[in-house]
Amino acid sequence: MSTSYNPKRISIIGAGKIGEAIIEAMVATKFYKEPHITATARSQKRMNYLEQTFGIKTTSNAEAAAGSDVIVLAVKPQLAQKVINEITPSLSKSTLLISVMAGITLAQIDKWTGSKCPVVRAMPNTPLRIRKGMTALCGSLTAQAHHVGFAEAMFNTMGRTLVMDEKLFDAVTGLSASGPAFIYIMIEALAEGGVKAGIPRHLATELAAQACLGSASMVLETGKHPAVLKDEVTTPAGCTIDGILKLEEGGIRVTLIKAVEEAAIKAKALGEVE
Ligand SMILES: NC(=O)c1ccc[n+]([C@@H]2O[C@H](COP(=O)([O-])OP(=O)(O)OC[C@H]3O[C@@H](n4cnc5c(N)ncnc54)[C@H](OP(=O)(O)O)[C@@H]3O)[C@@H](O)[C@H]2O)c1
Repeated sequence: MSTSYNPKRISIIGAGKIGEAIIEAMVATKFYKEPHITATARSQKRMNYLEQTFGIKTTSNAEAAAGSDVIVLAVKPQLAQKVINEITPSLSKSTLLISVMAGITLAQIDKWTGSKCPVVRAMPNTPLRIRKGMTALCGSLTAQAHHVGFAEAMFNTMGRTLVMDEKLFDAVTGLSASGPAFIYIMIEALAEGGVKAGIPRHLATELAAQACLGSASMVLETGKHPAVLKDEVTTPAGCTIDGILKLEEGGIRVTLIKAVEEAAIKAKALGEVE
């Protein structure tokens, strides 16, 4: 990242679940300190919560945008155009807009802002709250390397990042943004299996979660194909192959493939607001 690009103030427009996760990570890593962070929400109750929990300021969308060098747009995709209309008067070439909204394309944002500022599209996931996130990034036509580099540096403090072609973003949304929900269901179900076999629930949940964490780390750290790692666990005539047989009978692969595909299709549809 260019060291000369050092935007001072950031606002999170629509600080709900993902916006709060970003704020929590920024405060924890000190990427931005509390006095330089402003958030907005629809309700005063939500804004009070954000002020009290993180010690940051809250205000209207227009005021937040006017006082910011970086604006993170984290409202629902259906509100994108309305909220962009509210903040557009404050945008300039020196503002960086980072959109985390599913389905909303860079071309749509450029159209609504009149290409007044560089835009980076980001698709994060909620584990960034504990610095284990995964964020895909891509820049608009007017975004320069230092803008994308800044977003990369910011989201790198919250986990991993990948700069990717925008045409893959709906698929990324279905895989790594929705993915944590799919994996929580798998952890819950694995733990239920442990409970069925007699393990107390709290221990079963810890065993299941750590098995998922360890397995995911093995894939990332060894670089081995998951099938190779699976084979390493599967002793001939052992217990694991019997379990795998049940998974295959239940159609686990097809179910997971379809879950990602359906979520990606929905992500694309969310952006079709105009
Ligand atoms: N959740 C995820 O894991 C995830 C991951 C990647 C991307 N995203 C994207 O992030 C965006 C938000 O998702 P979310 O799950 O965080 O939803 P959410 O929890 O419902 O958050 C949306 C926030 O927007 C606020 N809001 C509503 N109307 C507003 C307005 N006119 N001006 C300013 N703020 C307003 C809401 O305020 P109140 O709380 O007061 O109603 C709420 O806090 C979506 O576009 C989604 O596609 C989400």
